[in-house]
Amino acid sequence: MTEIRCIQVAINEQPQTAEVPTRMLLSDFLRYTVGLTGTHVGCEHGVCGCCTVLLNGDAVRSCLLFAVQADGAEVTTVESLTREGSLHPLQAAFRQEHALQCGFCTAGFLMTLIPFLRENPRPSASEIREAVSGNLCRCTGYVNIIRAVQSYVALSRNSP
Ligand code: FES
Ligand code: FES
Repeated sequence: MTEIRCIQVAINEQPQTAEVPTRMLLSDFLRYTVGLTGTHVGCEHGVCGCCTVLLNGDAVRSCLLFAVQADGAEVTTVESLTREGSLHPLQAAFRQEHALQCGFCTAGFLMTLIPFLRENPRPSASEIREAVSGNLCRCTGYVNIIRAVQSYVALSRNSP
């Protein structure tokens, strides 16, 4: 018999209460229960990084967590980056530098990079490569992704 648990999670700063099967993945909860389909699911076993979200500010793979493990936590998804129709500067840099083709991997890259850049606002190219080494992209060859991050870093440096 499927066990159901009631959980309370703040998702993108919005408190949510939901009854979920104890074995429901956090990625499925976000996509199918909450309706936030920006979090993509590729491999479903922790390899591709497409499903990356923030759990209490840290990047995690939502396909490797059960929704019940987020009970009482804050979850941040890619949808939080766009405010009032404006792209986050990192998203804008991805667009500007053509850092995506199909875009399937992009949410995972962004949500991996957000906490990385918070901790390391002036990364070298090799540090950026290391930071995204757990995110798989089948389209871009990564060159433009690294360039986008460098462009974002340069812009941030010049911002007041
Ligand atoms: Fe989670 Fe690939 S779908 S790491
Ligand atoms: Fe297609 Fe990365 S842009 S997988």
